[in-house]
Amino acid sequence: MVAAAVILAAGKSTRMRSRVPKPAHLVAGRPMVAHVLAVAATALRATHRSSSRAERGTGDAEDHSSRLVLVLGHESARVLDTLRSVPNLPAFTVAEQRAQRGTADAVMAALPLLAQPPQTAPDTILVLYGDTPLVRPETLAAVLGAHEASGGVALLTGEAADPTGYGRITRDTEGRVTGIVEERHATAEQRRINEVNSGVYCFDAAWLWTRLETLQPHDNGELYLTDLVDLAVQEGVPVTAQRAPLSETAGVNDRIQLAEAEAHLRRRILERLMLDGVTVVDPASTFIEAGVTIGMDTVIHPFTTLRGQTTIGERCEIGPHSVVRDSVIGDECVILGSWLEEATLATNVRVGPMSHLRPGARLETHAHVGNYAEVKNSTVGAHVQMHHFSYAGDATIGERTNIGAGTITCNFDGVRKHHTEIGERVFLGSDSLLIAPVTIGDGARTGAGAVVRRDVPPGGVAVGMPARVIRHVTSEPESHSPPDATPGSPAENLGVKENERNG
Ligand code: UD1
Ligand code: MG
Repeated sequence: MVAAAVILAAGKSTRMRSRVPKPAHLVAGRPMVAHVLAVAATALRATHRSSSRAERGTGDAEDHSSRLVLVLGHESARVLDTLRSVPNLPAFTVAEQRAQRGTADAVMAALPLLAQPPQTAPDTILVLYGDTPLVRPETLAAVLGAHEASGGVALLTGEAADPTGYGRITRDTEGRVTGIVEERHATAEQRRINEVNSGVYCFDAAWLWTRLETLQPHDNGELYLTDLVDLAVQEGVPVTAQRAPLSETAGVNDRIQLAEAEAHLRRRILERLMLDGVTVVDPASTFIEAGVTIGMDTVIHPFTTLRGQTTIGERCEIGPHSVVRDSVIGDECVILGSWLEEATLATNVRVGPMSHLRPGARLETHAHVGNYAEVKNSTVGAHVQMHHFSYAGDATIGERTNIGAGTITCNFDGVRKHHTEIGERVFLGSDSLLIAPVTIGDGARTGAGAVVRRDVPPGGVAVGMPARVIRHVTSEPESHSPPDATPGSPAENLGVKENERNG
């Protein structure tokens, strides 16, 4: 069998009420059509492997992109733009359906691409809809398998408690499929049918191409692909139907269905992780996108969102209340209530609570960052302690350095960003301000509140900018005292201790 897949995503989607084309809407962090492309490619690879084994390895060098055809039309450039940023997307070819004249017309748009020499023309065509992102590769393999066994038309159908909007599958008294009737043409009785069309079909290529040409448009001007099922039945061509739960066959025509698809896929991702040995304390409040991998015995606490291409090691504690995007996290890290974007953590790193690691943050083993710390485009060395209210931007911090509370790398002069180099075993006093570009040598120290404008040599001690008392308060401030408070000395009310008055 030489199979090709055609994915239909050319339609306008008025019910989404969106300026974003429907195939580009995200489900579990990826454009919905990207899920369909991935699953179709997996199913094709599997059939290709089994048939090339049977034919002793023929065709292995063939380019598979031509076997995966995406039919686009409405806003095609925008859809392709969105797909460009999806990692590991299989190669595919684009066919254009210029005017949206229905699902059968969309399949016809793919024909010229599939019949092209020097490739062997496919003998089997799998059709999927780009707004049905939940179908699994095993299920597609079952549809392909059913087609290989019986020929004719193989369908995938779903079971919907509320079938509104779907095409209904009609069967005769012996349970054989007799056709598909779209909701707008269905009788009241047919509308009560719960078995629905998923939009996954497998056809003999030769039969498909000839019969598509015979279809007649409906009153709305559309050519329905579903009519081919009725035609097959009339011609006595075998029609088989595989059933799958709605969690695989659900289509997305509006935002309510988008959220339902998201929930199904999210649950599936969480279940896969849990079966692989990740503890998800509260699946209902945990959001993990499709590209995330997590090692065994890691615990994901509630209200945590893991996005993009994030990799998390073993035995970590993530959350509660953490958001991690496109980051690499080593084993045994703890991330409490923090936000990480494009950050890299070695093993045994501790972040948070309430910290923000921005792109280019690299934390070496046993580094501790937070409470309330921000790191951007900086390397924080092994065993660095950076515990309270601090900012490292465009900096390198050497091993075992202590960053005092409130320390800030002043990296921006209003025009350009500058680098700060902090050596190993440095001790920065609370509220040190390091005016970049500046270098603090190994083992150097700064006093509390130091404003460091020049390089500090290794082992150097830099102090500066002590606060001076410039005048004494002459009258009690009016608005600062609560009405029933016993007023202390004016200096106390300003937060100055008596013994510091003249210090
Ligand atoms: C379609 C099916 C319905 C099925 C449901 C499953 C038909 C006639 N109806 O209805 O039986 O239960 O999907 O979700 O097939 N498209 C094009 N070009 C077009 C029209 C549509 O590429 O001219 C694409 C759309 O972009 C979409 C897919 O085909 O990805 C299905 O079209 P949609 O309008 O969503 O059809 P449904 O009403 O959902
Ligand atoms: Mg649809």
